[in-house]
Amino acid sequence: MFCNGQMQIEHIELKNITKRFPGVLACDNINLALKQGEILALLGENGAGKTTLMNILYGLYQPDEGEVIVNGRQTAIDSPQKAGALGIGMVHQHFMLVPNLTVRENVALCMFNDRTFHCDIAYVTETINRICTDHRIKIDPDAYIYELSVGEQQRVELIKALSLGANLLILDEPTAVLTPQETDKLILLLQEMAASGCSIIFISHKLNEVKAVSHHVAVLRGGKLVYNGSTDDHTTNELASLMAGRDINLPVAKEKEPSDKIILDIQNVTAIGDRGTQALNGLSLALRKGEIMGIAGVSGNGQSELAEVINGIRKVQSGRILFDGEDITNRTPQQIIDRRMGYIPADRLHEGTVAGFSVKENMILKDYARPPLAQATFLKDRAICRYANDLVAKFAIKTPSIDTTCASLSGGNIQKVIVAREMNRRPKVLVAVYPTRGLDMGAAEFVHSELLAARDKDETVLLISEELEELINLSDRIAVIYEGKILKIIPAKQAQKSALGLLMAGVQSHG
Ligand SMILES: Nc1ncnc2c1ncn2[C@@H]1O[C@H](COP(=O)(O)OP(=O)(O)OP(=O)(O)O)[C@@H](O)[C@H]1O
Ligand SMILES: [Mg+2]
Repeated sequence: MFCNGQMQIEHIELKNITKRFPGVLACDNINLALKQGEILALLGENGAGKTTLMNILYGLYQPDEGEVIVNGRQTAIDSPQKAGALGIGMVHQHFMLVPNLTVRENVALCMFNDRTFHCDIAYVTETINRICTDHRIKIDPDAYIYELSVGEQQRVELIKALSLGANLLILDEPTAVLTPQETDKLILLLQEMAASGCSIIFISHKLNEVKAVSHHVAVLRGGKLVYNGSTDDHTTNELASLMAGRDINLPVAKEKEPSDKIILDIQNVTAIGDRGTQALNGLSLALRKGEIMGIAGVSGNGQSELAEVINGIRKVQSGRILFDGEDITNRTPQQIIDRRMGYIPADRLHEGTVAGFSVKENMILKDYARPPLAQATFLKDRAICRYANDLVAKFAIKTPSIDTTCASLSGGNIQKVIVAREMNRRPKVLVAVYPTRGLDMGAAEFVHSELLAARDKDETVLLISEELEELINLSDRIAVIYEGKILKIIPAKQAQKSALGLLMAGVQSHG
């Protein structure tokens, strides 16, 4: 029922695949095979070559050496169209959607090809409806992409891949942007699809998901395949050390005496969301100096809007925001940055970085006009290079040089560029939205310890995350956001996952 592809892939094999980019050996002689109905998890640190390898299988890149063998026959996959014809579908790490078109139009775009002379929009609608009912996916076909949260955009990508009847589905970090509930649903869906004969390659940094969903794991390190075997043979900890080549221990916040000083005071704020609905609904929250305040909530309950109003990117309709005693309500982003507010936005490609700028330029985006990076109206290139090189080393950013454009970095490394820029500015308050999204476990461990180090220096962090474990480990207090309001604030040490889950769904406990 799920796999009505053009051709049934019974066996697919990547043989001696090598791919080079300027200054990088992204894939180094990789051999990998997959049978029908199997789920393979592809693991590896940021920049290990996972996306590149999958882009080769999907026909976006051509390998420099090696070949792809489908059902025993060498097959040149020289375009995504060819991949589609073979029944290979891919959900990309960075979505490929047209923001100012609707969901329906985006799906139509991918179904429309040179074999059909007109676009049968009724058929597109029917296909979307069928996929949504079959897989219990909720989406409004008439919504514009720019109105959707990243989680919803991901659903559109999935519908696109399914609409072509893929029987080998590649998912590049599909759960990075999903809530825990959505992830559970996706895992069930993938299991159903595999049981009905679909093969799946699944990339993720979250090892408990990998354990839950995959039959096999393949681990890449520095472009080489270092492990390929059954998932059941290893615990999550063993998988983590296979990936990183060392043990990983995520740090936990130690108890700390709370300060009396309120550094960020959000008072009764209302704001309208992109879809014209009331996104913040009289939200009040006071952050103490030197604490990590976690925000827990199901995505779409006002988290991103909260981060945006604090940073001056979204207009506050009523209420006010005081930052270190000063009213910053509806000030410009620059004025707020100047008062030492830091921001790690959810959308790393469009808000966090300028893709066409180099790593160096992205690192100085907020400070290029100030000493020591500038003097009068002149940029001081030597100081800038030193600054950028230091950050690359400190945050272990994998890039051929500081002059490489951000667009050609791997997803996790783009995230590291943003985290490095924002944390190194020593903000008084850092608004961190999903700061470890897409980071490998070693990098997440590093960012967590940096956030705790910032707290030790009495800096304040507003940590918006959907990883309950991350929230519980790092926060002093956790505020649960629901329908644009703070429902309850609890000390993180007392927080339990199950109770938080209920609160996030809007269920208030008694007492
Ligand atoms: N189009 C490109 N141009 C130049 N270099 C590239 C390009 N695409 C990838 N690379 C480089 O190839 C290497 C592997 O990148 P890739 O995106 O495959 O990593 P990844 O394993 O998917 O990492 P992540 O977990 O961060 O997504 C990286 O060093 C990256 O900088
Ligand atoms: Mg990747």
